[in-house]
Amino acid sequence: MIKSIFLSLSALFISAHGFSSDWGQTGHRVIGFVAQQHLSEAAAAAIDDLLDGESLAFASTYGDEIRSIKSYKNYDPWHYVNMPLDKRYAEVEPSEKGDVFQAIKHCLGVLQDTSTSREDKAFHLRLLVHFVGDIHQPLHVGRAEDRGGNGIKVLWFGKKSNIHRVWDSEMINGYQMSYTELAQNLPRHSEVEQEAIATTPLSQWVDESQGYAKQIYGDVEQDQRLGYAYQRIHFPTVRFRLYAAGLRLAHVLNETFATSKSKG
Ligand code: ADE
Ligand code: ZN
Ligand code: ZN
Repeated sequence: MIKSIFLSLSALFISAHGFSSDWGQTGHRVIGFVAQQHLSEAAAAAIDDLLDGESLAFASTYGDEIRSIKSYKNYDPWHYVNMPLDKRYAEVEPSEKGDVFQAIKHCLGVLQDTSTSREDKAFHLRLLVHFVGDIHQPLHVGRAEDRGGNGIKVLWFGKKSNIHRVWDSEMINGYQMSYTELAQNLPRHSEVEQEAIATTPLSQWVDESQGYAKQIYGDVEQDQRLGYAYQRIHFPTVRFRLYAAGLRLAHVLNETFATSKSKG
């Protein structure tokens, strides 16, 4: 009881102080929803079994939900990777505490290992859904000195915010759409284009996000006032990143669960 009061108080404290929460719930759920729609039959069955019927949209926010729990603190650095804007991921020394690229690799490893428990697989599947989302938020591949733009304060429609949060959630929340409504309003691509997006290898996802991050950094100043104009210019990128993340998540899950083996 005491513990649960403490947990809800600390959750309140964190939200009142605007602690970053990645794509926000809506963004992460959109990605899970898109992925669910692109699962093979075998993958859908294996995942349904592992998650006891929970959807990928529902599972997608688990990675953020455990952040206020002390024993999960070691997962905090797994949500992002910070590196200099002029270096590619392959050129930097990987952080010993882990990063979002290593996190995705680790989760896939647990899912593909026939000796890991069902509980372990379910935990890492939930995290995988979350981290594939995070790696597609351009500022989750940001600079260390401003913590992925968290240190670049801006006024968002007159309200104090920062450029990281604008990309995590302010733009998305501004539309006040449910995740299913937003998922129905993502860009349309041909089958051939979808295939090209879905099969882009994991090794390129970090550098790709960094490409967008460079533009975002180059296009903002400390204390800048941002509103409709910024949203109009950048929301197409947000929608595309959510869509790409969903397609890619489905692709890696389809490969991982090519033949149903979740009982393993
Ligand atoms: N904390 C430090 N760097 C961060 C980043 N790039 N994204 C989210 N949280 C962070
Ligand atoms: Zn974030
Ligand atoms: Zn996250």
